[in-house]
Amino acid sequence: MPSSLSGTIVVVGASSGIGEALAVRLAHDARPVAILARRRDQLEAIAARANRKVGTTRVHVYEHDVTRRGEVGELWDRIEADLGTIDELHYVAGVMPEVALDEFPTDLDVQMVEVNALGCMAWCNEAARRFLPEKRGHIVGVSSVAAIRGRMDRPGYNASKACQDVHLESLRNRLWRHGIKVTTARPGPVTTPMTEGLKVPLPISAERAAEGIVKARDRGASIAHVPWIWRPIMMVIRLIPSFLFRRMSV
Ligand SMILES: NC(=O)c1ccc[n+]([C@@H]2O[C@H](COP(=O)([O-])OP(=O)(O)OC[C@H]3O[C@@H](n4cnc5c(N)ncnc54)[C@H](OP(=O)(O)O)[C@@H]3O)[C@@H](O)[C@H]2O)c1
Repeated sequence: MPSSLSGTIVVVGASSGIGEALAVRLAHDARPVAILARRRDQLEAIAARANRKVGTTRVHVYEHDVTRRGEVGELWDRIEADLGTIDELHYVAGVMPEVALDEFPTDLDVQMVEVNALGCMAWCNEAARRFLPEKRGHIVGVSSVAAIRGRMDRPGYNASKACQDVHLESLRNRLWRHGIKVTTARPGPVTTPMTEGLKVPLPISAERAAEGIVKARDRGASIAHVPWIWRPIMMVIRLIPSFLFRRMSV
């Protein structure tokens, strides 16, 4: 069943990959869509393409760096003044810089926590504050199957995604009693600029990932693995004892 919401949709991190595909897909919902990221040129091109596809100006561009958390409230107000009340937020922004096995770069870890976790917290908290009095709204956070275990090749990324994932769960547990939905999307590997040059298992396209996320939104899922096959895979991986996992983990 399609979402019953009718207000403005915000997609944070929409200038490439999954966020881009999500922006293009959500333009078909006949609701205003605000797309955010740092690279304005990319956003403009995506908005133009999406608007051409639906034959009207539905997708609007806002330049934003998610590490500037103090600007979220003001930006929320500006989007609402331009496009009407926001009742749906998708937080997709993320970074996964390459880190060698003998590297322990605190600066990169901080960057991943800032973008993947703290940015998500800032946007989801703003959404929660705004949605609460209305007792309606939907928050969709794009986490990852990488949130489940600490692999030896991605300490900072795994930790940032676990932080994001747990925060989303807590928000869901707080907000469901007020009629506000929080969906955690956990994609497996997706072919995007983030995974360019990496050998990943069972990759899917960004468009397929976006479709899976929209379907999860439509059925009001709490947690959605995208595609579904990652659910049983991660159930098994979660159960592997640490002494074995450290030997298998790459
Ligand atoms: N690709 C995968 O295999 C995979 C699997 C599971 C989960 N995910 C998650 O899916 C999400 C999207 O990843 P993707 O693969 O689509 O990556 P991507 O193509 O590299 O896109 C990342 C997006 O995040 C935005 N972003 C990064 N830093 C930002 C900042 N400081 N401020 C605002 N926006 C920022 C980028 O925009 P600008 O650079 O223009 O700011 C871009 O729009 C991430 O959260 C990622 O962890 C990806």
